[in-house]
Amino acid sequence: MIRGDIRSLAAYHVPDSTGMVKLDAMENPYGLPTSLRASWAKSLAGTHINRYPDADMYELRRRIGELEGLSADHVLLGNGSDDIIQMLLMAAEPGPCVVPEPTFVMYNLISRWLKRPVASVPLDRDFVLNTKSFLNVCSREKAAITFLACPNNPTGNLWPRETIESIARNIRDLVVIDEAYRPFAERTHTDLIAENVLVLRTFSKLGWAGLRLGYALGDPELIAQINKVRLPYNINSLTQHSALFLLDHMDVFDKQAAKIKKERELLFGAMSGLDKVEVFPSQTNFLLFRVGKGAEANAVFEALKQCGVLIKNMHSQNGLLAQCLRVTIGSSEENKRFLNALKEILA
Ligand SMILES: Cc1ncc(COP(=O)(O)O)c(C=O)c1O
Repeated sequence: MIRGDIRSLAAYHVPDSTGMVKLDAMENPYGLPTSLRASWAKSLAGTHINRYPDADMYELRRRIGELEGLSADHVLLGNGSDDIIQMLLMAAEPGPCVVPEPTFVMYNLISRWLKRPVASVPLDRDFVLNTKSFLNVCSREKAAITFLACPNNPTGNLWPRETIESIARNIRDLVVIDEAYRPFAERTHTDLIAENVLVLRTFSKLGWAGLRLGYALGDPELIAQINKVRLPYNINSLTQHSALFLLDHMDVFDKQAAKIKKERELLFGAMSGLDKVEVFPSQTNFLLFRVGKGAEANAVFEALKQCGVLIKNMHSQNGLLAQCLRVTIGSSEENKRFLNALKEILA
């Protein structure tokens, strides 16, 4: 009844975080300011939930395109950027998906659902992406599609502009530059958009994770092709109306992102001073760190949970991520709770 390879997969696991300081999923800790809540709710009250949502979403695409100086035709909307990753993997020519390793797990997972082979190119020490090796693997494996998370999850670093440009310019097949962490990074790569090069974004990390809204920016011809595998009405009416309302208040979210970046630097500084911790520079809203000198990632993770702090244990992925953990930047209070617990556990 069900394919053997699907049977052997584990379902995507989301741990229970009830009552915990939740620093495991790269969410914005601040939430919608009280001053906006009433007008937001009012803007939703007129939604016709008896009708299907706007299928074309021209106005929403126009508004999102406008943020980047692009027209609505350059924008494809997804139910989260995961939805667009799936569309891309469905629509690309048959052939392998090539990704750096480690990177965002959904590229690999969705490829497997779709029976698309995956070739991984291991990152060097310090999570450096070797341009030559990456291009060699793409050419040897006859890559149909490649994903570059810029900055990368879970490593948090942003590869040099030359690396990304060189890969984007030397591959003829689909190149997806995933900028999920754009609000926290020093640069974008939208100028690299070309016939075969797309930029992927999401509003999730900016504070709208619960709305599920992601988008691709690309050449209208390419966007029109990918749009053919988009499920009709993939963005529900409440999300569409919320997004149109919230786009008028982007200053609120930009300020929150600036605060998160400041908190990231504070936490980075504090963690750098810990004896048993190696913390890696980040251009995202999380920090990857490795424990050592007798400390074990699994034990630290469990002990943090006992203290009511949930982060993400990356140790099971092994390789470069051996003894690594990932913590999302929370509010100042949440970060302090995490830091104090970590210090106590490592003492
Ligand atoms: C690199 C990267 N891309 C895409 C996503 C998916 O984001 P969403 O589906 O919430 O838009 C994530 C989420 O963690 C991510 O880290």
